[in-house]
Amino acid sequence: MKILVINGPNINMLGIREPGIYGKNTFADLLALLERTAMEENLTIEQFQSNHEGALVDKIQEALGRFDGIVINPAAYTHTSVAILDALKAVSIPAVEVHISDVDAREPFRQISYTGLACVHTIKGHGLDGYREAVLYLKEHFG
Ligand code: DQA
Repeated sequence: MKILVINGPNINMLGIREPGIYGKNTFADLLALLERTAMEENLTIEQFQSNHEGALVDKIQEALGRFDGIVINPAAYTHTSVAILDALKAVSIPAVEVHISDVDAREPFRQISYTGLACVHTIKGHGLDGYREAVLYLKEHFG
């Protein structure tokens, strides 16, 4: 099974960015966790991070016919992006949305997810472990 993990803006700043909310683990730690998960679960995991909405849309479109599942943390675009929502709908690849923080316990605008409308499942507030849980969810339901 081939899974694409997509991270949106500022996720590359993990470890530096608001550690009280996102924790002290770095983006490199997240990439290592994904590599470990791929090995342990016998999966192919590719990852992509961008701070640009259009680049995220391009990557989702390019996943068509190449990936069996998508794990996506659209970060701030979660709460604004009809373009990413439409891209996920366009490719119809099963997608799981991940949020490192518990967005439901934060500002009201973070409780609205456009992108989640095209996802089969959402994991919030489990830190970096949420990515592993999302991968396992895709393997269990679509592998
Ligand atoms: C986030 C939550 C978003 O509201 C925020 O804009 C992010 C990260 C999370 O992983 O908790 O950048 O998606």
